[in-house]
Amino acid sequence: MTVRFDRDYARTLDRQDLLAAFRDRFVIDDPALVYLDGNSLGRLPRASQALAGDLVTGQWGERLIRSWNEGWFDLPERIGDKLARLLGADAGEIIIADSTSVNLFKLAVAALRHQAGRTRILTDDLNFPSDVYVLQGAIETLGGRHALEIIPSPDGIHGPVDALLASLREDVALVVLSHTVFKSGYLYDMAAITAAAHAAGALVLWDLSHSAGSVPVDLNGAGADLAIGCTYKYLNGGPGAPAFLFVRRNLQERLANPISGWMGQHAPFDFALAYAPEPGIRHFLTGTPPVLSLALIEPGVDLLLEAGMDALRAKSVAQSEYLVALWEQVLRPRGYVLKSPRDAARRGSHLSLGHAEGWRINQALIRELNVLPDFRAPDNIRLGIAPLYTTFADLHEAVERLRRAVDDQIYARYASQRPVVT
Ligand SMILES: Cc1ncc(COP(=O)(O)O)c(C=O)c1O
Repeated sequence: MTVRFDRDYARTLDRQDLLAAFRDRFVIDDPALVYLDGNSLGRLPRASQALAGDLVTGQWGERLIRSWNEGWFDLPERIGDKLARLLGADAGEIIIADSTSVNLFKLAVAALRHQAGRTRILTDDLNFPSDVYVLQGAIETLGGRHALEIIPSPDGIHGPVDALLASLREDVALVVLSHTVFKSGYLYDMAAITAAAHAAGALVLWDLSHSAGSVPVDLNGAGADLAIGCTYKYLNGGPGAPAFLFVRRNLQERLANPISGWMGQHAPFDFALAYAPEPGIRHFLTGTPPVLSLALIEPGVDLLLEAGMDALRAKSVAQSEYLVALWEQVLRPRGYVLKSPRDAARRGSHLSLGHAEGWRINQALIRELNVLPDFRAPDNIRLGIAPLYTTFADLHEAVERLRRAVDDQIYARYASQRPVVT
């Protein structure tokens, strides 16, 4: 069916949406707001709102320190096990801890120490820059014996797969990639890259921040070694909620956590001075978890498990294809450039549109047109599709307002300077 740029057509698609009822499970105070930033900060699940009250008033206020033995101590593994079901891992292979960046450091150092004698680390220039900074820090921590090779994308959109494969020689210790890349939304083939890396004796560490809850991930099906990711985007865990890490079962005893702390110690309340790691995934913990934000990850994961990742992916693809079709009809003639892959199979759940006036258009959307996308330099307007709550009507409205921002020259009212957080 040809995509039509009209509101009724979008509403028809929403009526046919089998996941439509999930939108009501989120707090949505302003139905006219087009929220397309679920790829940065997911919306608040109603169940999290209720749980927050119980956590503070009941578990903290009334039960006080007894709550540690009434569920808090096991939360990192218990929620990790649920997340494992979403990401194709087994129970005991994922744990919630720290931030994505800290988990990257822990797993990268552990892997590099394990891969003694191999000195090259491969990544690409589409990776989240902070991941590159962390890898640079890991190299310094280990005495500067490793070289980080940042392989350039051929076009700034697609991953440099051929160049990566060609660089996989016997001196590569570790490959570190964002499974879905943060700007263009390019989606790597996890199984293919992992198989090629393994053939060369390298380990692979995947950043799943833009994949968890947005695209199907089958860590064990792909033979994955290591992964990290955040919980505040498509998992709807809340601002600054702790991150997760995955270590394949048969690697767990061979890798040591470089930030060894009492939460990863075999018997933390024995207070022995010697560190003896707890076997299994728990020794990748370090210190006391932030219980309030950790606990609030669970309702979002439950919603995704209930909806099912295959159904979510089908809706996400239908919505991003719809958006691409509207871009072609309405936005391309107005100077918007598609900066995401055209092939839906190689695209995650967000779409980047470039425009010479991208920053000012973004300001017009936020301040005047009641659309919240986000902006990634130099000119990317990122439109995140969170299939649990994004509607086709949202996408229609976003395109309509992007059109108006240009046709009515609304962007011209805004300055070109950018603040610190975009
Ligand atoms: C792909 C990716 N990796 C890493 C990070 C850093 O995560 P954190 O700030 O939680 O350490 C982000 C943050 O947005 C991200 O998008």
